[in-house]
Amino acid sequence: MKLYHSAASPFVRKVMVLLHEAGAMDRVTLIPAAVSPLKPDAMPIDHNPLGKIPALETDDGTAIYDSRVITRYLDETLKAGLYPAAPRLWDTLTLEATADGMTEAAVLIRYEFHIRPEGSRSHDWAEGQWHKIDRALTAVEDRRMGHLSGPLDMGQIALACALGYLDFRHPERDWRKVRPALAAWAVGFMDRPAMRATNPVAA
Ligand code: BEZ
Repeated sequence: MKLYHSAASPFVRKVMVLLHEAGAMDRVTLIPAAVSPLKPDAMPIDHNPLGKIPALETDDGTAIYDSRVITRYLDETLKAGLYPAAPRLWDTLTLEATADGMTEAAVLIRYEFHIRPEGSRSHDWAEGQWHKIDRALTAVEDRRMGHLSGPLDMGQIALACALGYLDFRHPERDWRKVRPALAAWAVGFMDRPAMRATNPVAA
């Protein structure tokens, strides 16, 4: 399989953590891909018309995206066991969607201040994105700590990748300040070999 990859992408990281946890890194070849929406030539548009990473080319040449479809595919193909049976599955998927929503908002803030020219940036818009993240973090701290202490699953991995991206690109926001339980969970989770092996690297 081929995985279109950037070591800075938090969505690619989800896939990489799954591969490490499943002991299946030898099943994929990593293909470096562009990370900027302003460089469409270097994006995997033959495999994903949206041009986004991660995109996975399976052994029979089928293209699969986005990260949530890829992780479901790999989980089933590799028998990784990171999506539990229902009813826990619904919590896992909701946590994954919450984490991905946070990550998406965090990436949009990053793009706003690093891709848009200075005069066209909107601080109000960026704050609106941050409020989404803030609400989601509070909801996780209030309602999902029980799930986080359960068996490893893709919801936890997605959340850890979201938190890792906040640390990587938005450390000044200090998400830990009013969230002691989530911060304590992150200390343990970030120490997993799969998380250590996939720390983000600026492109
Ligand atoms: C980043 O550099 O922050 C980034 C890279 C790829 C995808 C999303 C964000």
